[in-house]
Amino acid sequence: MLQFQFHNPTRLVFGEGMVRKIGKLVPADARVLLLAGGGSIRKNGAYDQVVAALGDRIVDEFWGIEPNPRFETLSKAVALCREKKIDFLLPVGGGSVFDGTKFVAAAVPFEGDIWDIVRIGAPVKKALPIGGVLTLPATGSEANGNAVISKEATQEKLYFGSPLVYPTFSVLDPTFTTTLDARQSANGVVDAFVHVCEQYVSDPVDAPLHDRFSEGVLLTLVEQGPKVMADPQGIEARGHVMWAATMALNGLVGSGVPNDWATHGIGHELTAFYGLDHAQTLAVVQPGVWKARFEAKTPRLAHMGRRVWGLSGEDREVALQAIERTEAFYRSLGMRTRLSEYGVDGAQAGARIRARFEERGASVGEQGAITPEIVERILQDRA
Ligand code: NZQ
Ligand code: ZN
Repeated sequence: MLQFQFHNPTRLVFGEGMVRKIGKLVPADARVLLLAGGGSIRKNGAYDQVVAALGDRIVDEFWGIEPNPRFETLSKAVALCREKKIDFLLPVGGGSVFDGTKFVAAAVPFEGDIWDIVRIGAPVKKALPIGGVLTLPATGSEANGNAVISKEATQEKLYFGSPLVYPTFSVLDPTFTTTLDARQSANGVVDAFVHVCEQYVSDPVDAPLHDRFSEGVLLTLVEQGPKVMADPQGIEARGHVMWAATMALNGLVGSGVPNDWATHGIGHELTAFYGLDHAQTLAVVQPGVWKARFEAKTPRLAHMGRRVWGLSGEDREVALQAIERTEAFYRSLGMRTRLSEYGVDGAQAGARIRARFEERGASVGEQGAITPEIVERILQDRA
């Protein structure tokens, strides 16, 4: 029997034109900071709609949160919030803008070195409230308490999480996502797909409803992802992908069941050292993780092969084909799945990232089964 608690405090506001609702969702007397990336929200109309919906509230703006948001940039937003006595944070953008905002929310009231929140997971006792508008379906950051922050000075990319940094609300209007280019659209589908896999292709447990929720998300991505790539303006498919990506990492499908996260753990290091997009790292690493753990993962890979890829046959063969079909799916979206295709040397990356895992004394995967040595082998295998 599973044991878990599932509590997700984020109000999801889905559909075209729903930004207008933030007029009521943001407290009337709030002193708001709107946080954004490099300008995409001016092109897709999100910025204008948000400003209109906020009415005559006092609103400051912080621009320039980059993909893989950097501590160095976010520290400036923290200083601005403290100076202007900001009491509500409004991210408008993709996962990076949401993640960066979560760090700012935790850092503003934090006493001490704010990097400790990420470096050592220093307890977050207070945080500014967040409510945002998502423009890139991928990370699930719009409805979870996680953030991944990079530090340029040390080439680190580290995770922190707190129940206090869940957005109070997130607006999901698929019309804003029609301006995503092919690379970011494919990134989103792959990231969401891998999120489910990390919570589904893991040690077997008896969780039939979890399984079917997971399969619902995976099958939706397999069906709708190619439609988005074929017709970037197709608002219906964009919406289905957006909803699927939110459900992939809002805590539901992973509650109480074994989680893996090895692909993400290794992938973050590839971004930190070589600058690959987050989803690109996942498409490269995941087949290698599955092969390295093939014996342990055969039952769940076979389960996925039957339920998601419609395969039949004996477990081992179906499990092998499931790995191939998954990689082929990523490639069909235009995603490259080998390190050499990104100009990265697999042997060098393997040695470098193995050393980093050794320094941290870290292993990843279920029961820490993937040791630094196996991490190196996986990256060599994915050259
Ligand atoms: O900066 P702007 O101008 O906004 O442009 C962005 C950026 O260049 C652009 N973009 C966003 N919405 C757009 C758009 N371009 C055109 N039209 C739109 N509607 O896309 C680029 C990438 O944006 P980014 O926010 O970096 O992408 P994504 O949402 O994939 O976020 C990636 C970050 O999230 C972290 C990743 O590690 C990475 O740092 N993750 C966060 C997680 C979480 N909080 O739970 C889980 C994930 O596993 C992931 O680790
Ligand atoms: Zn991810």
